[in-house]
Amino acid sequence: MPVYLKTGPEIDLMRASCAKLAQVFDALEKMIRPGISTKEIDQEGERLIRSLGGVPNFLHYEGYPASICVSVNEEVVHGIPDRGRILKEGDIVSLDAGMVYKGWHSDAARTYAVGKISEEDEALIEAAEESFFEGLAFARPGCTLYQISAAIGNWAEARGYGVIRDLAGHGIGRSLHEDPMIPNFAQETKGILLVPGMTLAIEPMLAAGTREVEWKDDGWTVVTADGRKASHYENTVLITESDPEILTLPGGRKGKGPGREAAAE
Ligand code: MF3
Ligand code: CO
Repeated sequence: MPVYLKTGPEIDLMRASCAKLAQVFDALEKMIRPGISTKEIDQEGERLIRSLGGVPNFLHYEGYPASICVSVNEEVVHGIPDRGRILKEGDIVSLDAGMVYKGWHSDAARTYAVGKISEEDEALIEAAEESFFEGLAFARPGCTLYQISAAIGNWAEARGYGVIRDLAGHGIGRSLHEDPMIPNFAQETKGILLVPGMTLAIEPMLAAGTREVEWKDDGWTVVTADGRKASHYENTVLITESDPEILTLPGGRKGKGPGREAAAE
């Protein structure tokens, strides 16, 4: 399959879809507290997406039964919201959400603390975000796709994290999943040259322990094989002539750290 390059008006629609998704995350983040069920987060997420004029693109995707993936602790991704799954103090929870707006898809993920969490879990959450920005430094013309992959994986592995290999990032646009596939670890080849107009969902998934994962009997939920916690951080990104544009973070990066300045060689 080709890698679709987006042009002027298409990019504006991608920006709109992604900016709306960012609004959804801002609202959902405020709901995260002990006592809430993962189903309530999904229901509010779906309501918000629709109220912004979008349609949840995960709902019924290959049979997935919800709008927001809510993954708790050892669940890496694709957790299915459940009325009976109540968040408790000390949990970490990943929300993965997307929408289609006027035909254009957006996709992002964040991992949040539920109440007070351990320093180790805090570091795990931050590491997923940091590794994303390490990769992002290579999201520019003149670099190749797998420079992003290597930067993410090498950074995280050097810090002792398990970098999930069974799942990857992806191109995004008219479809939720387009080429290219974007692994989160070093590859033996360089991968395609990056050019302006590519829109990529870059999404490292890190584990406190092993990188090996298993699927639960529900057919969706991916969990760490050793039961230790995992974190996920994802943004939809536009390759431009110069610095990448993080479409699902329209206000720019909130936290600290270098990220953007780390120039690509
Ligand atoms: N957000 C996921 C991704 O990045 C897609 C979730 S698919 C669903 O590829 F079916 F689980 F919703
Ligand atoms: Co994605």
